Amino acid sequence: VSLTRRLLTRVYLHGILLLALAAGASFLVANYLLKPAIDTPVRPSTTWIAWHLQSLINEPERLHSQLADLRERAHLEVTLFSVDGVLIASNVAAPPPPLTPTELKELERRPTQFEDGVGVVGSVGPDGLTGYTRLRYSMPGQPFRIAAGQLVAALLVIALASMPLARSISGPVERLARMARAFGGGELAVRARSTRGDEIGDLARAFDEMADRIVAFRHSEKELLANVSHELRTPLARIRLALELAREGDTRRAQSYLEDIEEDLAELEPLLDDIMTAARLDLARGDGKDAAPPLRRQLVASQDLLDAARARFVRRFPERRLTCRFDASLPLLEADPNLLRRVLDNLLDNAAKFSDASDVIELEARAIVTPRALEVRVCDHGIGIAAADLPRVFEPFFRTDRSRSRKTGGVGLGLAVVRGIVLAHAGTVHVESNKASGTCFTVTVPATAAVPAALDAAPGGS
Ligand SMILES: Nc1ncnc2c1ncn2[C@@H]1O[C@H](COP(=O)(O)OP(=O)(O)O)[C@@H](O)[C@H]1O
Ligand SMILES: [Mg+2]
Repeated sequence: VSLTRRLLTRVYLHGILLLALAAGASFLVANYLLKPAIDTPVRPSTTWIAWHLQSLINEPERLHSQLADLRERAHLEVTLFSVDGVLIASNVAAPPPPLTPTELKELERRPTQFEDGVGVVGSVGPDGLTGYTRLRYSMPGQPFRIAAGQLVAALLVIALASMPLARSISGPVERLARMARAFGGGELAVRARSTRGDEIGDLARAFDEMADRIVAFRHSEKELLANVSHELRTPLARIRLALELAREGDTRRAQSYLEDIEEDLAELEPLLDDIMTAARLDLARGDGKDAAPPLRRQLVASQDLLDAARARFVRRFPERRLTCRFDASLPLLEADPNLLRRVLDNLLDNAAKFSDASDVIELEARAIVTPRALEVRVCDHGIGIAAADLPRVFEPFFRTDRSRSRKTGGVGLGLAVVRGIVLAHAGTVHVESNKASGTCFTVTVPATAAVPAALDAAPGGS
């Protein structure tokens, strides 16, 4: 709270500072522009009056009546002196003193002098200065009053308008700070939902995006935890059962469970692999999508990768029929073999899980020439994926309802990992599916330009 108060005060003080600067600027304008603008036009007529009066020195009556007239009607104070400082005539009760000798010298050089409503006009005869007239006229006050009024009005407006401005900046910031604190305190539903188009709106939207992302992270973490615990439950229950049977001495029945337990464990291992891989890929991605993932690349022969995947599949599902169709010459890849292996295993595993035991599974590999790449297709004739679900199968934790109802294990990370790995290798992955003919996944991975001979020198690419 103290922080926002400080912001409010700072914005407001900034307003006040502006105000002081504006006042200073107005003063300068009044003094150096407005005042001369008012004063200067008065000077010629005043000078003419001084000359005229001096020409009346020998007609005292006319002089006095005109002096009185000027006093009354023009508020002009006039006092006439002879050159040696003798007062000749004046229309003021307390006339100003005569000029000092220095002032007199100055007047000889510059016989007309005005400043701020006060003037001295010398009368110059053929032998030099003969006398002078001191004048005082009141500067008209009206323009100054108007200018001052304008200034005061402007200052008031600034003073009043600064407050809402200061509030409009510090208010939302204060609100955001409260919200961030609430979010940090566990109220995960708070959102700014700002419609402002300015930087504060940006800040609020950034906060909302951050909050959404954090909530999504938390959600997927929870889901992972729930799914993994679910996956662990069956093998653990079987292990416990087998232990109990063994303890009771029923070793034959206990042994009958061992095969199931082995199968369960065989499913858990790749699951753990997927979780670790997902974490590794996510960590690498950070926020910039093109941040380089930590691939441990090496030269790999596609043929070796595929043969190994096929061997693992046959070992894991001995009763399933897998037909392989590989091009005679498959390209060399510069890739992370441990990751690509997870791609093939996950796709083959899904194909087996989501099709009947009697259905054949197809694994095809082609060499693509331009641009050089390896294309792998994994097809099954199983349950298929509904068109509405197709775009979502690569999302972490997504599983279709039909796959959930089947008694197959899995937490829905497999395809997310597949896509993560393929994208990290700058490849592509597509899926086509329909309920009648089954599902096909197509993966392409760019090949290296290296010649196959280099493979012998490369560290093992199994
Ligand atoms: N070959 C396939 N045939 C039908 N559905 C599939 C196939 N492969 C994936 N799916 C669907 O996509 C979902 C996500 O797959 P995946 O990420 O491997 O998760 P999991 O195998 O753990 O269920 C599966 O649950 C299933 O619904
Ligand atoms: Mg899977």
